[in-house]
Amino acid sequence: RALWLVVPAAGQGRRMGADKPKQYLMLDEQPILARTLARLYQAFPHATLVLCLDADDRWFQPDWVPFAHWQRVPGGTERMDSVLNALHAMQARDNDIVMVHDVARPCITPGDLRALYQAASTHAGGALLAMPVADTMKRANAEQLSTHTEPRDGLWHALTPQGFSYVLLRQALESARHQKRVVTDEASAVEALGHQPRLVSGRRDNLKVTHPDDLALAAAILAAQTDPLI
Ligand code: CTP
Ligand code: MG
Repeated sequence: RALWLVVPAAGQGRRMGADKPKQYLMLDEQPILARTLARLYQAFPHATLVLCLDADDRWFQPDWVPFAHWQRVPGGTERMDSVLNALHAMQARDNDIVMVHDVARPCITPGDLRALYQAASTHAGGALLAMPVADTMKRANAEQLSTHTEPRDGLWHALTPQGFSYVLLRQALESARHQKRVVTDEASAVEALGHQPRLVSGRRDNLKVTHPDDLALAAAILAAQTDPLI
């Protein structure tokens, strides 16, 4: 049962508003993409990587890839299209495990990666890293007035990686695309098929670098993640 790592890295980073896509911005002297791949490799040196990159990407350098086995596939319009391109290009068996991880989450730790892999390979509905919601949740109307408070019980933030059997993930994303539903994570597509992915409580510092001030935050997180801790 092989392990495949799919890393969608074909986004434009519009909210970051930099002169290049955010995965190529430097974080502690390395591009974010290189940092993320290094963390994945630390946990799974024998996995096969499938990297989704924009066809017009001018910044990627192959020597940032530490994996012995890897392939590059073109990105699609939405994140789910990029992931589907990967699933269609890779020569996987139905029961292989596919873990999808955002390139923009460089603070992922080997501990969380192993916990997610364990859950994904034992739970039929797959699994995702997630974090219980800590703040009180407000429902707003169109005028940005708070109309009521949502019960926080049972609410989680969905993080990545998210892991599933190859056949389940492919079926789920193909069915979403067929029904013209855009999903922002793999688990929503799997849920729509009636499966219940397991929520694996992950570290709170698995930040998705999104806005300009996230860069300093990510640098501080990396500095605080000393080796015995992760
Ligand atoms: N992604 C992708 N293909 C797309 C869109 C996004 O592979 N068509 C990837 C991004 O590179 C990122 C992940 O999906 O690793 C999560 O997306 P997000 O954080 O939204 O990144 P961007 O789309 O690049 O940023 P923005 O939405 O601000 O433009
Ligand atoms: Mg986006």
